[in-house]
This record gives sequence, structure tokens and C-alpha cells, in this order.
Amino acid sequence: MAPSSSSSAPPPAPAPAPAPATASSSSSLARINNIASHISPAMASVTSFPVDTVPQAPEDALFGLARAYRADTSDLKVDLGIGAYRDDNAKPWVLPVVKKADEILRDSPELNHEYAPIAGIPDFTSKAAQLILGADSPALTEKRATSMQTISGNGAVHLGALFLAKFYKGCRTVYLSNTTWANHKQIFGNVGLETAQYPYFSKQSNGLDFEGMKAAIQAAPERSIILLHPCAHNPTGVDPTMDQWKELAVIMGQKKHFPFFDCAYQGFASGDLARDASAIRYFIGQGFELLVCQSFAKNFGLYGERAGCFHMVTGPGAEASATITRIASQLAILQRSEISNPPLYGARIASTVLNDPKLFAEWEENLRNMSGRIISMRKALRSKLEALGTPGTWNHITDQIGMFSFTGLSEPQVQRLRDEYHIYMTKNGRISMAGLNTKNIDHVANAIRKVVGETQ
Ligand code: LMR
Repeated sequence: MAPSSSSSAPPPAPAPAPAPATASSSSSLARINNIASHISPAMASVTSFPVDTVPQAPEDALFGLARAYRADTSDLKVDLGIGAYRDDNAKPWVLPVVKKADEILRDSPELNHEYAPIAGIPDFTSKAAQLILGADSPALTEKRATSMQTISGNGAVHLGALFLAKFYKGCRTVYLSNTTWANHKQIFGNVGLETAQYPYFSKQSNGLDFEGMKAAIQAAPERSIILLHPCAHNPTGVDPTMDQWKELAVIMGQKKHFPFFDCAYQGFASGDLARDASAIRYFIGQGFELLVCQSFAKNFGLYGERAGCFHMVTGPGAEASATITRIASQLAILQRSEISNPPLYGARIASTVLNDPKLFAEWEENLRNMSGRIISMRKALRSKLEALGTPGTWNHITDQIGMFSFTGLSEPQVQRLRDEYHIYMTKNGRISMAGLNTKNIDHVANAIRKVVGETQ
């Protein structure tokens, strides 16, 4: 309603004369104050986002940890937090093959900065699909897979979540391993899907609670969505064996569950790209309809470039090709409304390597280099902890695989390591093995020995 002149509200204060326009900063300030004095006090205090509807959220735990590490001025500090590869000097490693691809791209007369197609760069997505599904995958030869380039693995999980939230008519609860990557729960929650947990990590053995996992997946309502890490589980570093994957496939087939594979570490776990994708390939071979989220952050060291891919595979059958065409058309609409089209740089780098057999072979070598250094750090940490007589057993450090180890350290122990020894790791005791090197490993092993010995 328009304010009436007979309203009892006091008339607005007369506008003060405008400040003389000079170039000085004090007169600019005066002008701003002038404008502010025109805003009625009632308006100034109005927000559509009061604290009860928009409460202060906590800082992201992982990125908060990275910030605290950067602010620490101690020479002793060690970053075992975020899952990003470091070399033996604790420095980020730009893969030599990535440098080569970068030069090729930079010098290319074809280079421009036009929009990518909505589904991404075809040369990239087709090779990404072959890499993870297998070049001879029946999903590809029978034309029942579709791929979308995404904002790294995170964007792929989001796209998959969004697609399921909109179209999945089975049980709309996503079962996550206990525990899982910290972002999973909020990605699904943000698109309105419920989440539940299946047992995964056994604190007793520091390994897989396979019986608990199977029982929970068996007990989940038919057609539940089951999120699985096909290799190098984050945060535990514990993977099922191939025989265990086979058992899981039987249960999931009987219960008609929908497998949602999130693969952030292909080639990074064992150093062998095919081996790290074998669970996904097995499920496809069994005829599952499923989806796969693929990140190139870790295996190409392209963390900030956000190169990733989303793949949907439908089951075999006469209608499969038509089904996947329909699915692809809806994914394109979701992609267009979310990001319009994906960013180019990281995908161009990966695509250059994936499409050139010589560069591809060099990439495999780079991967073996990274996974090999991590394996040697696992061995070194375990043997040092054992040699120091650290209470407990430490075989899980070498039994676990991939970027992370779930040490079994308690939250107070983690806090002491940070406060007293400048060693940073997530509260749940996860360490990024890539943060260890030949220079800091003694400091880390000695510190763990001390806190474990004193706070058992
Ligand atoms: C991690 O778990 O440290 C990485 O996957 C980084 C991230 O985005 O969480």
C-alpha cells in the first residue's frame, strides 16, 4: 500500500545538502554518509535472511584445516589434511605429461575460447568413458552409455544426485558408507535426497566391516541407491577385494539396488588404471543400470581445473539405446540450467593426453610414480612406528590403499598433534599419505609415538 500523507509516521528528514564534489577521499566518504542518511532506520534493519532462517554455518572443516595450516609459521609444520599429491619436498607436483600437454595446447593455432558443447568436449568424454568403463565395454559397444563433462568429480556427483532426485522412482534414500567423503551427505541433502549409512570401516580391525556392509545393503529397501567408492576409499583407504565386490553385486542384483559409483582415484590407488576400475566394469558386465562419477583431479593433478565426467549406463536390452538417448536429453537440460557448459582448460589437458598413445604411456608412468611414492611412505611410516614401539598395531597403514590412511588416532590425539607438533590432519584421524616425505616422516612418527603413548 502506498504511504498516505495523513499517516502518523514522522515525515522524512529533509535531505542534507549534497557535499561539494571534490576529488578527495574525505568528500567521497561524506557522499556515502549522505546516501546512508536517506535510508530510513526501519529499512536499514530489515533483512529477508534473519538468523533463524539463515544461521551462521560452520566453516568447511577440510578447507578450514588448510587455512589453519597456511597460517602456521612453524618450520616443523606438516600438512596431512587435504587429499592433494605432494612431492618429496612437500610441494604440489605438476605432472610432466601435463606440462607437455599444456605446451601443445598453448602453441596450437586451433586454440580459441569458444563455448564447449553442453555435454562437453566429445574427444574428452569419449576417451574418459573408455578409460573407466573399458574400451571394449558392452555399455559402449551396445551404445547404452552416455557421458557429460562435469566440474570435476564433485560436479559429477551433483549431476547424478540431481538426475536421481528428479527422475528416480525407486527408494530415494542414498546409502553411504560409514564413513565417507565429507561432501557426499550435503550434496544429496541439497537436492532433497535422504541419506542413510551402511557399516564400512571396522575400528577393531582398521579394515573392512564386510559382514556389516553386506547385511545393511541386504536390509535396505528394494531399489535403494547405494553409493560405492570403486577404489581408494576416501577417507579410510580400505577397499573390498574383487571377491567381495562379486558378493556385493549378487546382493545388489537381488535387491534391485541402484549402484552410484564415485571414482576419484582411478590409477592412483594401485598405479594400474584398469585394475582400479575393475569393480565398475564387473557391475556393468553383470548387466546393472548404474552411474559413474569420474574425477581427473588426483590422477592428473588437475585439482583446481575441475576436470571430470559423469557416465550413465543403462542395462542391456532392445530398448537400451532409446533409453539412454532419453536420459542424455534430460541430463543436457540439467547441465544447461546448472552450468550451461563445462569449463575447457582441464578437460583439454586430459583430452590431449588421453588421445595420444605416447602421452598416455607417459601419464601411466607419472601415475606409477605418485602411487609408488605413496606406497613407500606407507611402508616407512609403519616401520618407524613399529620400531619406536608405538602402542597398538600398525599393519593397517600398509594394508590400506590410495591417497589416505585412516590411522585410528582419536580426536584428542589429532588435536595434540596439531597443537604441539604442527601436524595437521582431519579430526577423524585420516592422513593424506602424500603429505609425508623423507624429510618429515621422522617428525611425524615420533610425534605419533608420543601422543599415542601418553593418551592411550
Ligand atoms: C579430500 O577429501 O581431501 C579431497 O577429496 C578434497 C575435497 O574436496 O574434499
